[in-house]
Amino acid sequence: MSKLVSKPVCLADFEVHFLQSLDRIARDYFTSGANQEQTARDNVEAFKRYRLRPRMLKDVSNVNMKTTIMGNEIDFPIGIAPTAVQKMAHPEGEVATARAASSMNTCMIASTWGTTSIEEVAQANGSGLRWFQLYVFRNKQITMNLIQRAEQAGYKALVVTVDQPVVGKRLTDDRNKYSIPSHLKLVNVNTDGLRSVHNPLDTQQSTESVVHQYTHSLMDSKLTWDTITWVKSFTKLPVIVKGVLTGEDAKLAVQLGVDGIIVSNHGGRQLDGVLATIDVLGEVVEAVEGRVEIYVDGGVRQGTDVLKALALGAKAVFIGRPVLWGLAYQGQTGVEEVLRIVKEEFKLAMALSGCAKLSDIQPSLLAYDRKYYCKL
Ligand code: GLV
Repeated sequence: MSKLVSKPVCLADFEVHFLQSLDRIARDYFTSGANQEQTARDNVEAFKRYRLRPRMLKDVSNVNMKTTIMGNEIDFPIGIAPTAVQKMAHPEGEVATARAASSMNTCMIASTWGTTSIEEVAQANGSGLRWFQLYVFRNKQITMNLIQRAEQAGYKALVVTVDQPVVGKRLTDDRNKYSIPSHLKLVNVNTDGLRSVHNPLDTQQSTESVVHQYTHSLMDSKLTWDTITWVKSFTKLPVIVKGVLTGEDAKLAVQLGVDGIIVSNHGGRQLDGVLATIDVLGEVVEAVEGRVEIYVDGGVRQGTDVLKALALGAKAVFIGRPVLWGLAYQGQTGVEEVLRIVKEEFKLAMALSGCAKLSDIQPSLLAYDRKYYCKL
């Protein structure tokens, strides 16, 4: 429950509460980016380099934010990105998030690394729109089992994360010797009998946290784009790739028949120093030429960020950490409140920039301010 004196009125207020109230190790796990956290910070900062060119006198008395993603209608173009171990933020974890997504009529992407099973998340989400985030593991059987369970539990797409052949270096987790609290379990993958394995790229004595060693024991660093072909052949669900950061990879993904792309750098938790996702979005949109839907996550903290992402060509954005802040604040109600605030901010931003419908949001709405962009 909140330690804030007043009710949060923007996403940053939830962050203040989160930083004050969560246990240090959990807070560090959710907050950290890789290495020096340049990309994690830049995801947020980069949005500020884009300024707006609003149009006036456009009749914005009725602002319509409804859209479709992969053919399913949602009330506003802001979904929930996959984040792991949600019971570390709130005892109800993924169940609270799934209920909030459903009551707000938006999409939740459930993480493979959930502390609630695929089936329980589905049950809590009811008739809501849910996608399943999939890691392709070295052991194909584990992957196939996850896909089949997601299909049976009514998930409407698979979101295949492609940016984690090995786990990025999260210094705070290493310092904290982070491990999942003993009362919690990553329930979707049977971990019994698995041993810790060092990062295959780590030739020195490993300083990695236990969780990262464990993750390395499952991940397949040999994965190639053939994996996408394999996943597509194994499922009838739409396949969305998450973690694309170049026009080249976006083109490859489209050639392989993917159904959608999420421009993502894993919240800055994998390769530190990559571009902020909002800075990559334009390149990916250009490469894809409208052949598949493109979404973006990373750094969305207010309604104008959503407006900017849509102006650059995203069909929708996904938010990760702010959902965890809402979850830590008040479980389901907290997540709903985070979604409601960013939705209302987006509506206001549309109205004030002369956009009554989503198709009014065009690239001409943006000015890119070079003063704020320090090219290396
Ligand atoms: C899991 O995907 C993480 O980034 O910790």
